[in-house]
Amino acid sequence: MSQQSNAPQRESFSGRRAFIFAAIGSAVGLGNIWRFPYVTYDNGGGAFIVPYLIALLTAGIPILFVDYAIGHKYRGSAPLAFRRLNRKFEIFGWWQVLINVIIAIYYAVIIGWAASYTYFSLNNAWGKDPKAFFFGEYLKMSSDVGVGLDFVAGVLLPLIGVWVVVIALLGTGVQKGIGKVSMILMPLLTAMFAILVVYSLFLPGATKGLDALFTPNWSKLAEPSVWIAAYGQIFFSLSICFGIMITYASYLKPKSDLSGTGLVVGFANSSFEILAGVGVFAALGFMAQSMGKEVSEVATSGIGLAFIAFPTIIDQMPVGGALIGVLFFGSLLFAGITSLISILEVIIAAVQDKTYLPRVPATLLVCVPLSLVSIVLFGTTTGLAMLDVLDKFVNSFGIVAVAFVSLVCMVFSGCLKTLSDHVNSVSSLKLGKGWQCVVVLTTILLGYMLISEIIKIAQNGYDSYPTWFLNTFGWGMAIALVVVAAALSLSKWKQEK
Ligand code: PHE
Repeated sequence: MSQQSNAPQRESFSGRRAFIFAAIGSAVGLGNIWRFPYVTYDNGGGAFIVPYLIALLTAGIPILFVDYAIGHKYRGSAPLAFRRLNRKFEIFGWWQVLINVIIAIYYAVIIGWAASYTYFSLNNAWGKDPKAFFFGEYLKMSSDVGVGLDFVAGVLLPLIGVWVVVIALLGTGVQKGIGKVSMILMPLLTAMFAILVVYSLFLPGATKGLDALFTPNWSKLAEPSVWIAAYGQIFFSLSICFGIMITYASYLKPKSDLSGTGLVVGFANSSFEILAGVGVFAALGFMAQSMGKEVSEVATSGIGLAFIAFPTIIDQMPVGGALIGVLFFGSLLFAGITSLISILEVIIAAVQDKTYLPRVPATLLVCVPLSLVSIVLFGTTTGLAMLDVLDKFVNSFGIVAVAFVSLVCMVFSGCLKTLSDHVNSVSSLKLGKGWQCVVVLTTILLGYMLISEIIKIAQNGYDSYPTWFLNTFGWGMAIALVVVAAALSLSKWKQEK
């Protein structure tokens, strides 16, 4: 590793606490609130806790250690740290950077919607038909998929607001921006969410929801898809293999306990997830009861849960609807902001390492073009279809593919030992051979997940999108990322051997 004389000094977190909050801030996001509850319900309820915990212990935490070790030992953004690990691995870092580019573009949009809905909660702006309101009045969704330029002011303005806020935070720097804001928002988010959960538990029908969520269906454990769902949830939820943890760990002081920190982050994220499951299903139980339906008829996730089911729930509340709305959408907003800044930081750090630009110009160089793309693509009437396809292809293939290929290369080139030696040299909890075996087994499982997902989509398509649309924004984009990453990895680094 060469030392760079005229490289700007690397920023750092003030201490372990700021790092832990930032890492939890990245991990706790939309995935915890709107994805985990339904994935659990759909994959065996209480029984899902078994594969979920196994996935956390065998994939989540061990791979979190891989990310931490790479970032901390080689002290660089994802491409630079991977390059210092092995020159041929630089492409993985760029691949992760590009995946973050795509995610940032649409993640910002959902946060913008959450901001609008926090405001709408005050007077139930969605009226009696939240579904028609969301797609019609709010998004003004056009019936054709494609790219159009009909801007929708109600979507555009909050989206611009989100970008302005994250640019201001990121421009302020690692400790003053990311560290500080995470240390404020994460406790606030936890408090808000805790109030929401307690309130939901007192709603009539709450126990019906919890029964539906937790009643174990043990026979589900025999289905491979349930195990894939558990591993998939853990990967997305902990933000591992996205380059995020590499980047954040590179800002940790040289003497920092890595494995202890990883355990705190892993368990904190899962605790939040379970809390969210309880809150969401208690509320869905109330919704089912007051509509005279079964929980199975109202259970949902993602956009449907947040922007259709929750407004319906708020509508039906005799008292406190506005409060629940503000707490729920405010939580999405805060959880989303801390995740979005982690996504953008991966890109900014890579640009800084490559160009030696100071923080503010690097932040602007990354965020201004990205915000424009996000505004043009999603501030318009045709955003939703694109968002869905990008999300599917980036999350189902992109991330699993980069995780699988990079881990295979690391296993075969014998890097795992170097990485565990590094973790052991600074941490209280030591990693032994067992850790290496677990990483190898997880790598094999990732390969299986990747292939089964590719076969599924190649055979059945995805949803009912036209082939040209899937080929361009789905497959085309997934492949383009690898090609561009390869090209970027050929460009030279200043003073790097
Ligand atoms: N971990 C975040 C969540 O649970 C999502 C995320 C994925 C954030 C990838 C950053 C990068 O929602």
